[in-house]
Amino acid sequence: MKTHILVATDGSDTAMRAVELASEIAAKFEVPLTVAHAMHFGRPPEELARMAEVEHLVEGAKARAPVDFPDVPDTMIGLFRDTRPGDESMRLVTMIGDELMERAAERAKELGVKSVSTRSVVDDPAEGILHVAKDVGAEMIVVGHRGLGRLKRAVLGSVAQKVLDHADCTVVSVR
Ligand SMILES: Nc1ncnc2c1ncn2[C@@H]1O[C@H](COP(=O)(O)OP(=O)(O)O)[C@@H](O)[C@H]1O
Ligand SMILES: [Mg+2]
Repeated sequence: MKTHILVATDGSDTAMRAVELASEIAAKFEVPLTVAHAMHFGRPPEELARMAEVEHLVEGAKARAPVDFPDVPDTMIGLFRDTRPGDESMRLVTMIGDELMERAAERAKELGVKSVSTRSVVDDPAEGILHVAKDVGAEMIVVGHRGLGRLKRAVLGSVAQKVLDHADCTVVSVR
């Protein structure tokens, strides 16, 4: 392991396990780690809303970059359901993305990674991950086997599958 590791997170618990494995490898081999998150506006907001601690993410995001959101509803589903680029709620989606990458980066530092950066993209998640991987020259991409999707199937999630199919480098999928 000589160059760079990329880990993709959607904020799910499985993705956090991917962050932890990627961090352990990056720390051991002393290579930089990039945390990537793809924002996909207008796509399943329910996934975002299913993040266990979404309200805490919002609180964290607001604390880091104080912006007045008119009303942060009790259930985040309503807020995200119809989010489109240009919407007010888009800023919140962006900040939640930043917040979950920040959490991943903090975990990576705790686990001893010296060089950690974050990258967010607005794209189809798999395409976005592959794009960032190329851009940073990643030698390995680490993803979760599952993400925030509703289906609790045994099969690989569709984002993970697409990354695995199209990446030029090694891909590790974490259970
Ligand atoms: N929007 C995203 N940004 C970055 N990584 C993602 C995103 N969506 C999924 N991933 C990565 O892909 C893994 C598998 O998720 P996915 O294939 O979407 O499964 P599911 O169908 O269960 O949501 C996640 O653990 C994460 O590593
Ligand atoms: Mg998903």
